[in-house]
Amino acid sequence: MELGICYYPEHWPREQWPVDAQRMRDMNIRWVRIAEFAWSRIEPSPGVFEWEWLDQAIDTLHAQGLKVVMCTPTATPPKWLVDQMPDMLAVDAQGHTRGFGSRRHYCFSHAGYQAQSQRITRAVAERYGNHPAVAAWQTDNEYGCHNTAISYSSAAAEGFRTWLAGRYGDARELNRAWGTVFWSQEIRNFDEIDLPNLTVTEANPSHRLDFQRYSSWAVARFQEAQYQLLKALSPGRPVSHNYMGFYTEFNHHEVSENLDIATWDSYPLGFTQDFFLSPQEKVQYARTGHPDVPAFHHDLYRGMCASVRADAPAHGRWWVMEQQPGPVNWAQWNLAPHDGMVRLWTWQAFAHGAEVVSYFRWRQAPFAQEQMHTGLNRPDFSLDQGGVEAAQVGEELAELCHTMCASKLSVRNRVALVFDYDGLWMGQIQPQGKDYNGLALAFRLYSALRQLGLDIDIVGPNAPLSAYQLIVLPVSTHVSPALLEQLKNTTAQLVFAPRAGSKTTDMHVPPQLAPGPLQSLLGLRVNRVASLPPGFEEVGHLLDQATTVTGWFEDLALHGAHKLATLSDGRPLVTLNDRACYVAGGLDDAAWQRLLESRALAAGLEPQRLPADLRVSRLGALAMAFNFSDKAIDWSPVGSTSEPLLGEPSVAARGLSIWHLV
Ligand code: GAL
Repeated sequence: MELGICYYPEHWPREQWPVDAQRMRDMNIRWVRIAEFAWSRIEPSPGVFEWEWLDQAIDTLHAQGLKVVMCTPTATPPKWLVDQMPDMLAVDAQGHTRGFGSRRHYCFSHAGYQAQSQRITRAVAERYGNHPAVAAWQTDNEYGCHNTAISYSSAAAEGFRTWLAGRYGDARELNRAWGTVFWSQEIRNFDEIDLPNLTVTEANPSHRLDFQRYSSWAVARFQEAQYQLLKALSPGRPVSHNYMGFYTEFNHHEVSENLDIATWDSYPLGFTQDFFLSPQEKVQYARTGHPDVPAFHHDLYRGMCASVRADAPAHGRWWVMEQQPGPVNWAQWNLAPHDGMVRLWTWQAFAHGAEVVSYFRWRQAPFAQEQMHTGLNRPDFSLDQGGVEAAQVGEELAELCHTMCASKLSVRNRVALVFDYDGLWMGQIQPQGKDYNGLALAFRLYSALRQLGLDIDIVGPNAPLSAYQLIVLPVSTHVSPALLEQLKNTTAQLVFAPRAGSKTTDMHVPPQLAPGPLQSLLGLRVNRVASLPPGFEEVGHLLDQATTVTGWFEDLALHGAHKLATLSDGRPLVTLNDRACYVAGGLDDAAWQRLLESRALAAGLEPQRLPADLRVSRLGALAMAFNFSDKAIDWSPVGSTSEPLLGEPSVAARGLSIWHLV
């Protein structure tokens, strides 16, 4: 468990660098990420490299014993490069070329830019690959940020055609897979394929799905090229990339195949304001962030660089690369976190297994786009509240290091939530009901499980599942033969959300109808689906209590499954076939929680209904409790006999307690 910081030496006078480095060290910061946007300073003109300033910056950090996360600067190609090849710019869905003047303006498919990305990666890696301070790498910055994973450029069209030719071999096979006989969309050869934008009405869903897959593949190839260079030129240093929150435009499992550490950028208040939480939640958690927003991503990204060994739990190396330090600038409304939250978020990440939590950024920049984004320090160099709290965590880590280092802090979870990007895309492409949101559903189910005190691994559809006792599948719209095999062979309790198995890999209705290959496991068939507009509610009964059913409802024909819940008219709402449970409609949060609690009990787990806004985590012998509310909460872990290592027996408001269980 170590702290880090994002630092921009190029934004500050040189005489400040040693002072900054000394203060970082005094705050127990160990890692400094630099240079991800510094291309114009590294190479101010084509082929003219100015390394001297960066040499000095790295040496200054090194002199204080700080470890550097060196970045490739490819998120911000400089003006001269854009002018050299203007067609490297990305194109949006409306066909507009995206301009120079912010960042991430490149198109992943552009061969010329790919070559430039490799050239600058090689130059930076040759210069610093063996520098003793450089202990890790970051490729680029936040692939896809500002909607940039998908570009409708002519380079993308060309790349897409080649990719399709590789996937389908001949046009007849593509015509079959896309069902192009519908509306005379048939093509004679791959050259006739356009991108799925600017069509009169919706484009063919299989076409869209393949373009999404292609775009994801293009991100993965871009990443792989940098990864290979860095591994060759900087041996022994792990390569990371910083992912984003609630972002699903590319398949992160695929991109992570060429990554040693998955990191992500955690802005709990910004994400609470800008995503699908209810208006009440946005107010309630305005200054703490929703408790499960960071946790969901911690568990998601921990699953990225995971082992593929069948007997190993799906845990990979992961960090928080950017931790919100105070108000940000980019959300619709930018509140100040309550005092204590920066510390709480930091410890929460450690509780989920983060190796490093690194704050964004060391000091607020007084100029340019992010001048209203706080840092640990204010622009006048004084310490801001986030800095005070980061320093506190630094001291706590130093104090607890002895006990914590002696413990084996491995994550061993018994609950898996299967997160499938392909399945999510299918739901986004054809939502069928305007408000269907698979990501929001996955988050809701995750949150219900967390409120039951359960620790969760969020895993990809190819992850080994044998270690789990409860497996929840919120967005498995398509189920591959390999996943089906795993699900049949586990002894885990299984919970499937509506639409599971409802599409083939080509995004067709399966020949045997939904839930397709899951029919025998679930003992049912879906005869008909209906989406329900806002305000249209059905009433159902689940485990002796009523639930409202909103958004979605399916008519089932049961052949083996029995009803666990029904609509008022007796139609099945939730079914169970041996250990496989299927939910056929949009349940309310309380009903989901009752259902998941009963399935967790059936799985032999010990769910507990936690007090509101308290979350708990187990990490090896440590039990940790986090209180997001404004009042102290009495809670202690089962089996604790001693006082907490950190915090009080009653968990402080917006605070935490850590116990060491022996
Ligand atoms: C991240 C990005 C950083 C900075 C930050 C502001 O998305 O990686 O460069 O822009 O947001 O919150």
